[in-house]
Amino acid sequence: MSEDATLFTEVDRTGAPDFFIRFLDQANANPDIQKSKPVILDALHLRPGLRVLDLGCGTGADVIDIAQRVAPSGTVTGVDASEAMIAEARRRCAGSSLSVTFEAGDATQLRFAANTFDACRTERMLMHIAQPDRAFGEMVRVTKPGGRVAVFDIDWGTFVIDHPDHATTRRVVASFSDSIRSGWIGRQLRRMFIDAGMTEVSFTCRQTLIDFEFLQLIIGGHLTRAQHAGMLHPDEVRKWWDYLRDFDADGRFLAGFTAFVVSGEKI
Ligand SMILES: C[S@@+](CC[C@H](N)C(=O)[O-])C[C@H]1O[C@@H](n2cnc3c(N)ncnc32)[C@H](O)[C@@H]1O
Repeated sequence: MSEDATLFTEVDRTGAPDFFIRFLDQANANPDIQKSKPVILDALHLRPGLRVLDLGCGTGADVIDIAQRVAPSGTVTGVDASEAMIAEARRRCAGSSLSVTFEAGDATQLRFAANTFDACRTERMLMHIAQPDRAFGEMVRVTKPGGRVAVFDIDWGTFVIDHPDHATTRRVVASFSDSIRSGWIGRQLRRMFIDAGMTEVSFTCRQTLIDFEFLQLIIGGHLTRAQHAGMLHPDEVRKWWDYLRDFDADGRFLAGFTAFVVSGEKI
C-alpha cells in the first residue's frame, strides 16, 4: 500500500485508492482552495447550454458545480485516469438530475474529436504528469475555437513551512517538490498558454495556507519513502515533525504554497 500523494498518476495501482479520495476531500475542503474554485469557473465564462470537459476530475466535486452553471441544456464530462476515482464520482453524482458523465481516460491521449467542447479545465492534475504540455495540447485541441481553457495548479517551488530547522526544511521541501513530476508547473502555465497561441490570457496567483493535518497528508507518505531510500534519517524526520506538532498544539503552525489560475481563449 502506498499512501503517498506524489503517486496521483497511479491511484489504481497503489492499493490505497481510499487514501487518495480522502486526500481530495481534505484538499477541496481547504478554505483557500474553496476560495479559488469560483475564480477558476469564472475564467471559463460558463453559461447555460455549454458543453464542458473537466480533465483529471477526481471525485467529480467540480463537475457538479460546473453542471449547475451550464444547466439545464449544458453537459459536463469528467475524465480521470483512475477507475477508482471515476467509480467514486459516479457514486456521488448518482440520482442527480444534472447532465454529467464520467469516463476513464488519459489526459495526454483524449478520445474526443477536435473542437468538441465549449470550455475545458483541469485542476491540480498537470503537476502530476511527466508531459504536461502534451495534456495541455489535448485540452486546446478538443476545445472549439472561441472556447475557454482554464488551469489551476500549484508551484511546489513556493512551498513554505515555518520551522526552526532551516536545513532539514529545505531538504524536505526540495525532495518533495522534485518528487512531483512537474512540481514547477505553476510558474510555467502562463507561458504554455502563450506558446499554444491562446488569446485573452489572464492569470492570478492564489496563496493557499494549509493546516497541520493536511501537511501530514501531503508529505507524510513521501517522507516515509525518502527515509526508506536513505535520503533522510528517521531521527531527523521524527524531530522535524515533533516541532511542527508542538507549533500546531499552541496555534503557531504555518505552512502553505502558491497556486496559479491561468485561462485563455482558443483562436
Ligand atoms: C490532485 S487530483 C485533483 C482532482 C480534481 N481535479 C480536484 O480538484 O479535486 C489529480 C487527479 O488527476 C488524475 N490524473 C492523474 N494523471 C492523469 C492522467 N494522465 N490523465 C487523467 N487524469 C489523471 C488523478 O487520478 C487524480 O484524480
